[in-house]
Amino acid sequence: MTTTRLLKTLPHLSKFSSAALALVLGVAPAMAQFGGPPHKPAGPWMDKTLTADQRADLVVKALTLDEKIALLHGNGWGELMGGPDRLPLRALGNAGFIPGVPRLGIPDLQMADAAVGVTHSSVFGRYSTPLPSAIAEASSWDVDLAREYGSLIGRELRDQGYNMSLGGGIDLTREPRNGRNFEYRGEDPILAGTLAGAEMKALQAQGIIGDIKHYAMNDQESGRSFVNVKVGKRAMRESDLLAFEIAVKESGTGAVMCSYNLVNGDYACENNYLLNEVLKKDFGFQGFIISDWSATHSTAKAANAGLDMEMPESTHFGSALKKAVESGEVPLSRLDNMVHRVLRSEFAVGLFDNPPDRRVPDVFHGLEVAERVAEQTIVLLKNANGQLPLAAANIHSIAVIGSHADAGVLSGGGSGQVDAIGGNAVAGSGDVVWHRSSPLKAIRAKAPGAKVAYDPGTDANAAVALAKASDVAVVFVNQPTGEGNDAPSLSLPGRQDALVSAVAAANPHTIVVVESGGPVSMPWIDRVNAVLEAWYPGTRGGEAVAGILFGDVNPSAKLPVSFAKTEADLPHPTEMLQPPPRQGEEAEMFPGAPWRINTRRFDIEYDEGLLVGYKWYDAKDKQPLFPFGYGLSYTTYSYSGLKTTPAQVTFEVKNTGKRAGAEIAEVYATLPQAAGEPFKRLVAFTKISLDPGESKSVTLDLNPHYLSIFNEDKNGWELVAGEYAVQVGGSSRDLPLRGTFRIDR
Ligand code: BGC
Repeated sequence: MTTTRLLKTLPHLSKFSSAALALVLGVAPAMAQFGGPPHKPAGPWMDKTLTADQRADLVVKALTLDEKIALLHGNGWGELMGGPDRLPLRALGNAGFIPGVPRLGIPDLQMADAAVGVTHSSVFGRYSTPLPSAIAEASSWDVDLAREYGSLIGRELRDQGYNMSLGGGIDLTREPRNGRNFEYRGEDPILAGTLAGAEMKALQAQGIIGDIKHYAMNDQESGRSFVNVKVGKRAMRESDLLAFEIAVKESGTGAVMCSYNLVNGDYACENNYLLNEVLKKDFGFQGFIISDWSATHSTAKAANAGLDMEMPESTHFGSALKKAVESGEVPLSRLDNMVHRVLRSEFAVGLFDNPPDRRVPDVFHGLEVAERVAEQTIVLLKNANGQLPLAAANIHSIAVIGSHADAGVLSGGGSGQVDAIGGNAVAGSGDVVWHRSSPLKAIRAKAPGAKVAYDPGTDANAAVALAKASDVAVVFVNQPTGEGNDAPSLSLPGRQDALVSAVAAANPHTIVVVESGGPVSMPWIDRVNAVLEAWYPGTRGGEAVAGILFGDVNPSAKLPVSFAKTEADLPHPTEMLQPPPRQGEEAEMFPGAPWRINTRRFDIEYDEGLLVGYKWYDAKDKQPLFPFGYGLSYTTYSYSGLKTTPAQVTFEVKNTGKRAGAEIAEVYATLPQAAGEPFKRLVAFTKISLDPGESKSVTLDLNPHYLSIFNEDKNGWELVAGEYAVQVGGSSRDLPLRGTFRIDR
């Protein structure tokens, strides 16, 4: 399965060196085998009264040069390329393995991809929970939910014997067609950074090294290994890099993964500005920087720019690194620092003191969390004429149409793909995986008295006939996305838009449920009564959708991304794809590659700068289809009584409807004119549970960092003096409360 994933995406990746290719072609070099299990840790570094830094220093002193080098690189593609039989001894399988040093009790590093759950479990007969997407987590705007998400993944990693996660994707939704948006947390740096930070902190509390990725500006998949992103420092620091800054600082993550692309002329994994200057110096990151898989391009340049670990091979950080240290090209002090950082992260989360205790995972708990998370993250986008919730007692017939809703719900693809429990729900769908959580069955369970019939939607006439004969039509639509490719457009693929329009014309009570990795366009929006954005809702997604349709769950989620009406409204209406090879450029193909891959670099100018998402729509005065921060409920809320100071905002939120619910309150600030940013930014948010008629007073702290601009001349953050405008409400385009405060020098 993983091999298929890789093969399918190869034309878009640089992730195959000749060694990896040799594996693909079945001429694998013998995998190194590593000695017996690590000894029980012993030595002065086992003194728990010492700090992680002190303990790491003691270990560094005890290591030989060869042992140090061996801790800084991977040992091949393992499971990702060859399957279980190609694994080094003791490797559990999954993305990466680095043997420890038995004589000193240094544990093996067992890394697993875990963006939305632990991947690659089934091939080894293990279990892990496929959670709703990371973009769904962001739709909760709920740090407690993000913690629960992180704890579950951490616990399931531990249960399986892994001690390092490769999740934590946080690249901003600058390009809404990015195939990996489902692994990320939307378009706002403060929302994305806060939630990823909370998730990683909770994951690390399970004794697992966390990871935040892909650092940085890896905002599209097309040509990801060859694209040189051109963007200004202020724009970066206030957008994508701010998300990383918040997540790194909040979580104390042990690792950050640098990305495939180049930024302002240098590969991210050998970019001194990004790695040394910003991440290590300015953010104070104490952990280690790990390369994305085959994203290391040099030895001395990368090591001296701040890269600490090459994965998953040893092309640059194996014998080449040893030579570079011996020749002085990489100072020994730098090598020691690289090793120190790895060991420090291991001590900090307890890998020496409290290694994973493999055990039977609590499957029931996993399923429960998956369902609860889905319920909190499905966004109600439209609900005309009180179409929802459905009252089961009054409905005689329901048409369920399309998107394999009889079988399951869609999952995202690539290295974030979690094996479907029980296998792919849709036979023959290849790499497109569906979790066995049938919306049809779940709807039937909610409406036992109604006739609930299914039509696959492949023949619009049949679907229309069923819709006509039913009280209500629920049309499921999908947009599969995954690593390695971007969506070709914002449109739903195939004839799904036409299907929705045809069904809507046949039945005035049409409800659409969207399963997508990010924003999609909805040309039929005015013709349907209700729309739910379910994202890729995980292994209990069908049940969660039904719970919302029938009102057992009152929806509370809000969009962490803007939905454009059409591509024409995006900063880059046409996505910047890698240009095709020029005549005679075959020589630039990857050596030995059976595919023609254009290795020519190309530039993307992110000239929208920090105007990502809603900031773009606000600054350009464009109307999105659905704005950032938007989402409906089955009840209504009112806001009143705003009081502002530079440090705090206080206001009241009241549930003015008849159902209990939870409201996400959003606080935006517009900086003084002198800041040169005449558009608002999110500066605080919270989620408040309210019974019917109940009202609560909310006080939120304002973090001065979130009110600041990045001053390139001073190379630092600056709180501009003057008047700040504050707006509070339930969506970036519905902010009834307004106030101001001043900050004087
Ligand atoms: C992805 C990473 C992932 C790694 C290991 C790469 O292709 O970009 O996100 O962690 O593979 O599977």
